Amino acid sequence: MAKITFITTDNEHIVVEGESGSAMELAVQNGVQGIDGDCGGVCSCATCHVHVAEGDVAKVGPASEIEQDMLELDDNVTERSRLCCQIDVSDELDGIVLHVAG
Ligand code: FES
Repeated sequence: MAKITFITTDNEHIVVEGESGSAMELAVQNGVQGIDGDCGGVCSCATCHVHVAEGDVAKVGPASEIEQDMLELDDNVTERSRLCCQIDVSDELDGIVLHVAG
């Protein structure tokens, strides 16, 4: 079980919990504003863009090449950008914080 905190652009903190699936799915199920998941999680829409909190980057890991290509099309990209449909939920991610990129 992992608890993941999403912080929206309005600074709302939403804590979600899950054991499997993607962080995007958890966000959508819990109505996190700004995470739309339009493509259903196949890495082709970038509506699930988040910035990983600084201390959690190592835990979450880097974006894949396909993900990076998708992110390049998005404004507001930083070195901590990830598409959260590509972040698989597992116990190791417990406690991470993801900022909605907006
Ligand atoms: S949901 Fe479309 S890229 Fe993540």
